[in-house]
Amino acid sequence: RQLLLPRNPSSPPEVFHLIPFVGSAPGYGNDPIAFLESCRKKHGDVFTFTLLGRKMTVALGSAGNNFVLGGKVAYLSAEDAYTHLTTPVFGKDVVYDCPNEKLMEQKKFIKFGLSMDNMRAYVGMIENEVSRFLRKEPSFRIFQMNDINEWGQFDVLKVTQEITILTASRTLQGKEVRANMDATFAQLFTDLDGGFTPLNFMFPNLPLESYRKRDRAQKKMAEFYINIVKARKEGTSMNDEPDMISALMGQTYRNGTQLPDHEIAHIMIALLMAGQHTSSATAAWALLHLADKPDVAEELYQEQIEQFSNPDGSLRLPTYEELKSLPILDSVIRETLRMHPPIHSIIRYVRDDFVVPGTLSAPSKDSQYVVPKGHYVLASPAVSQVDKMLWLQSEEWIPSRWTDPEGQAQKAFKQYSDENGEKIDYGFGAVSKGTESPYQPFGAGRHRCIGEQFAYLQLGIVISTVVRSIEMRIPGGVPPPNYHVCFDRLTSIRNTNPSVDHDYTPKAAS
Ligand code: HEM
Repeated sequence: RQLLLPRNPSSPPEVFHLIPFVGSAPGYGNDPIAFLESCRKKHGDVFTFTLLGRKMTVALGSAGNNFVLGGKVAYLSAEDAYTHLTTPVFGKDVVYDCPNEKLMEQKKFIKFGLSMDNMRAYVGMIENEVSRFLRKEPSFRIFQMNDINEWGQFDVLKVTQEITILTASRTLQGKEVRANMDATFAQLFTDLDGGFTPLNFMFPNLPLESYRKRDRAQKKMAEFYINIVKARKEGTSMNDEPDMISALMGQTYRNGTQLPDHEIAHIMIALLMAGQHTSSATAAWALLHLADKPDVAEELYQEQIEQFSNPDGSLRLPTYEELKSLPILDSVIRETLRMHPPIHSIIRYVRDDFVVPGTLSAPSKDSQYVVPKGHYVLASPAVSQVDKMLWLQSEEWIPSRWTDPEGQAQKAFKQYSDENGEKIDYGFGAVSKGTESPYQPFGAGRHRCIGEQFAYLQLGIVISTVVRSIEMRIPGGVPPPNYHVCFDRLTSIRNTNPSVDHDYTPKAAS
């Protein structure tokens, strides 16, 4: 049992800070990865820092990932860590506003909306949205923020944010949402998204305008989805395509009750938020790196030509199965997620005193650390994904490390296993599985992401459609991440909005 307390329990070392309560918030907020790495040098893999009054015990490395992500619910709770932030945005009775067993059932329901049949249908829908966006059709600009001009520049993050919401609404969210995807919906989304800030993490309710906006937007958006469900039940809806709402409407809890309308609405909001920043940030980083390494973009383009050329020279749409067997496209996404996982910190609330296992850097088994009830624990796959001990040229974006069977990724994992005497099978393709893996952009364990397949589909089509259509360059190189705005919204690229130069000459009709 985790609770068997060691003979000489001691607390993990504490990171020094000057200002009580604020603690290490500036350092962590400024650059979480650099902050965690520098604390690791000083204190080892396990240490505690203060973040706005909360005690955060960090556990780094593969063992740290395993400790946090594989922890038992009785000790480590995601809902206790996140609910005050997410419930005002998603709504009641779903995700973290319910017991963990209920969330597990809800995740199973969501999987029905991500079935193979649905994924196959989504391929064409996503391609259609991206192509029409690139062709500048007016109704394909929601936020009205940006433009792609011939031989011009575009703001990569704004473009990918817009493309992400368009493609998610056309597919998962359904026809009614896509039809209403106008400035009003965009405003609701923006107001709701404004509820994901460190201030909201600290204080769930304050008499501030941004909080009022968040609450109004939540109510309106929930009503909007509830009305869609009602119209579909009454048979007055225009929907005739597979989507998440219809998948959820068919689901029943183990106790025999159907998923109520308000829960369907709140799950839909949760999915909108879960997929938006994660996918748009990843797409933005991928395009930045492709603009920086045109040779890789060219390889990607050649892969498309080899696989999908029609006799007349145009390019056809891939099927879902074909999309999953494109090594270069896959490696571009995989490598982008290695360097820029959108969720850099995964947090759990400690429900009961918890012993850090001896495999972590406690001085010895006899003096293991105890993390007390009331702390939070934090794993950062983002740190293990750029760990110099594990990855050759860890800070370089090298997609080929994933495609070469004797490549760097495999060698790095093997070297790690040998040196640490751990028999971990990190064979190609297996590296993202398991709570002890150092590669976890989608998390691991019971809270692992269920949107991975959809995200790969969405990113795959977005990236390949862009590469088919335009050439990109970024003269100043890929900018470093700006975590200030990241911290403002708890994702990691928000403010990296450099312009990418591009040649808007369609390369091939698709
Ligand atoms: C959970 C990453 C896209 C839905 C997670 C977690 C991570 C993650 C790291 C684990 C969080 C934790 O353990 O605390 C990503 C990345 C994405 C992505 C990198 C895209 C590149 C999506 C999409 C959806 C989605 C498109 C919806 C269709 C979810 C859900 C959970 C989750 C429902 C489960 C939360 C839980 O069980 O606590 N995601 N995600 N994600 N994600 Fe994603």
